[in-house]
Amino acid sequence: MVRRSIVHGFEAMHVEALVASAFFLLFLVIGGSAQPLVPAIITFGDSSVDVGNNDYLHTIFKANCPPYGRDFKNHVATGRFCNGKLATDITAETLGFTSYAPAYLSPQASGKNLLIGANFASAASGYYDDTANLYHAIPLSQQLYYYKQYQSKLAKVAGYSQASSIISGALYIVSSGSSDFLQNYYINPYLYKMYTPDQFSSILIGIYSKFIKDLYILGARKIGVTSLPPFGCVPAAITLFGHGSNQCVSRLNQDAKNFNWKLNATTISLSMQLPNLTIVVFDIYEPFYDLVTAPSKQGFFEARRGCCGTGTIETTTLLCNRKSIGTCPNATGYVFWDSVHPSEAANQVLANTLITQGINLVI
Ligand SMILES: *[C@@H]1O[C@H](CO)[C@@H](O)[C@H](O)[C@H]1NC(C)=O
Ligand SMILES: *[C@@H]1O[C@H](CO)[C@@H](O)[C@H](O)[C@H]1NC(C)=O
Ligand SMILES: *[C@@H]1O[C@H](CO)[C@@H](O)[C@H](O)[C@H]1NC(C)=O
Repeated sequence: MVRRSIVHGFEAMHVEALVASAFFLLFLVIGGSAQPLVPAIITFGDSSVDVGNNDYLHTIFKANCPPYGRDFKNHVATGRFCNGKLATDITAETLGFTSYAPAYLSPQASGKNLLIGANFASAASGYYDDTANLYHAIPLSQQLYYYKQYQSKLAKVAGYSQASSIISGALYIVSSGSSDFLQNYYINPYLYKMYTPDQFSSILIGIYSKFIKDLYILGARKIGVTSLPPFGCVPAAITLFGHGSNQCVSRLNQDAKNFNWKLNATTISLSMQLPNLTIVVFDIYEPFYDLVTAPSKQGFFEARRGCCGTGTIETTTLLCNRKSIGTCPNATGYVFWDSVHPSEAANQVLANTLITQGINLVI
């Protein structure tokens, strides 16, 4: 009953109280034991969760050079699109992991390292395979193919029976869709003429639904999928689509909301169709929107510009690099690290949301 009220009472209760109770529950469950709450974490998606797969691809969407990783352990630019940890890194720590599941294309993805899962995500990928193809990233269908390959490798390392309990006990995270709009639909005259945003959303949702069914057939039983963020509020979108305004682009946010509405409905339907599947939407839209529109409430002072990126040149690369001038000395007060991606400090806020909304995936 406690679990039920935590998940369903989200809107009614105060967020901090919720987070506190979620952490309290986790504390009870973890107790002093060294075991994480799930055996492994398996991740699919885009730059919001890529931990370095794009380092091994011929794509312009890489984050393997400074200032990326500036505040990460040992200041390493791992390929995460952030100054420090991703929201899902923080979630993994909260669940009791002391190391992160490796990027599947990295040399670390072998042997016993595979026992705690693997990460298949690729920046600039989406639900729609063509989005990834435009940027030479890993399409979702290929991520799924790699996951099948991972299962065979896991069976060799762990033995068939342990592998199968890892596969069914693992937490699966899917975080995708922003690139399909920002880096494809809105700038692709062909798609834009062919489909309305609503039709394009439906196509993406169809792919999502099929993907979840495929994962289920492959043994996944605990899946968390993130909703779209209010991507009309990311600095790059304001620059590109805001017609000179400094405000969130409401047309884009409306498209994100519409997608999220369908995502909710489809997810409920999937959970009814697929026995023993626990599937949860991590609704990051509202917490993200609150952060961007009232940053000072949570101790942030800048939500319009990335720490790295001056606010005017985002159009050239979307990303920052060694030569980016004016990178802020301390990103803690910035919601955005670069012109698209949240800072580690913002990721901490989002991670609290993931844990609160996903509590019934892990206990
Ligand atoms: C999706 O469901 C969540 C949780 O029930 C809710 O908070 C959110 O507003 C819904 N999103 C949309 C766009 O309907
Ligand atoms: C669901 O779980 C129960 C209990 O673990 C098991 O007996 C049953 O076979 C499962 N059903 C499916 C379709 O996996
Ligand atoms: C950045 O600022 C925060 C709070 O203002 C502070 O706690 C932190 O130590 C600073 N980090 C660095 C690297 O200076």
